[in-house]
Amino acid sequence: MKKMLLGMAATLIASQAIAADPISQRKDALKQYKPVIGAMGKMVKGDTPYNKDEFAKLASQLEALSQKPWQYFPAGSGVGKTDARPEIWSKPADWQKAIDNHQAATANLKQVAQAGDLAAVKKAFADTQQTCKACHKDFRKD
Ligand code: HEC
Repeated sequence: MKKMLLGMAATLIASQAIAADPISQRKDALKQYKPVIGAMGKMVKGDTPYNKDEFAKLASQLEALSQKPWQYFPAGSGVGKTDARPEIWSKPADWQKAIDNHQAATANLKQVAQAGDLAAVKKAFADTQQTCKACHKDFRKD
């Protein structure tokens, strides 16, 4: 019985260790931005033809992605293989503001993309990218 309990405890600890790697979880979530932003950027620049439906689909994916990474920044996860700056935890209100601005921009982009006016789409896309840059400037190491 004791052995079995120990075994169960070990399994529990092992599964918690996997679940408790917020640094790689947030990096995975952030990496998912790249192909989506990349494909949108090409359309906005005219490298690939602007396709309203395709762009709207990407914009809606981006909006969904903008909900994900932030849950993986628990207190104490600023050490190790991470580019996260300590300001994330020392200035939580500013950090939350950067998240809110970003989510507001992706939500707006999603809406504008559904309407499909290219000039408005370009502006909403630039505004969104600006929220990525602003947050990286304040909260990510170079
Ligand atoms: C609210 C702040 C914030 C916003 C908004 C934000 N990022 Fe980041 N991003 C970070 C932080 C902090 C890191 C560093 C994470 C780490 O190393 O632990 C990061 C890292 C990354 C990485 C590197 C992931 C890796 O593999 O190490 C990519 C790519 C990235 N962001 C893309 C984007 C894109 C594209 C956007 C906008 C669509 C965006 N980010 C918006 C804060 C933000």
